[in-house]
Amino acid sequence: MILEANGISKSFASGQKTIEVLENININIRKGEIVAIMGVSGSGKSTLLHILGLLNKPDKGNVIFLGNPIDFSNESLLAKIRNKHIGFVFQFYSLIGELTVEENIILPSIITGLKPNREKIDYIMNLVGLSHDKKNRFPMTLSGGELQRVALARALINNPDIVIADEPTANLDKASSIDIVNNMENINSQTGQTFIIATHNGDVAMRCHRTLYLSGGKLGEKT
Ligand SMILES: Nc1ncnc2c1ncn2[C@@H]1O[C@H](COP(=O)(O)OP(=O)(O)O)[C@@H](O)[C@H]1O
Ligand SMILES: [Mg+2]
Repeated sequence: MILEANGISKSFASGQKTIEVLENININIRKGEIVAIMGVSGSGKSTLLHILGLLNKPDKGNVIFLGNPIDFSNESLLAKIRNKHIGFVFQFYSLIGELTVEENIILPSIITGLKPNREKIDYIMNLVGLSHDKKNRFPMTLSGGELQRVALARALINNPDIVIADEPTANLDKASSIDIVNNMENINSQTGQTFIIATHNGDVAMRCHRTLYLSGGKLGEKT
């Protein structure tokens, strides 16, 4: 198991009330799986991904990543684990507008203190289907599909064990959505990297190895 979460609960205060977003959730992700998480808007997909991606602390329960129980109180260790082992892809790309495509892609390795060589950058650009003549472009000049490829390349640059993608195709047209999921599938079969993808898109979920459904704070499985 690459990632296990047991008895995860999370609630948020909303005015006088508390909203129980996740209630006693258990999830086991095997190495090399592509898992879809579906659920209506507000069902807690992002909340769950943030906990699985070690970006947010559960109220209850524990997370075991690569065999190690996670101590959510140790922020600097969490940051190290995330940078080294987890790649993130978000709906709105979260690229830095002032940086070129290549600078955006290599940012996580710069943060780690390593500058990837030309070969590595070209390899990653090929992997996500970005033509090399785009490397000096700025995000503003790219299409949504291209922006998400850049974000995926950035997620992959540090060779993460797992990629967590939060509605990566929600802002893309049908063709670009299929392109992105094709890319993820190819990468998964070439590198064995694990993917967790929150999505509203049934076509995307169908391409995943299994789908989990979040509803009423609970997680259910259908294979
Ligand atoms: N930081 C937060 N503070 C307060 N409420 C939040 C916070 N994050 C999420 N929520 C609430 O938790 C619920 C689930 O949100 P979210 O995980 O973003 O769902 P989804 O990604 O499935 O749309 C929503 O009701 C949302 O308003
Ligand atoms: Mg969300």
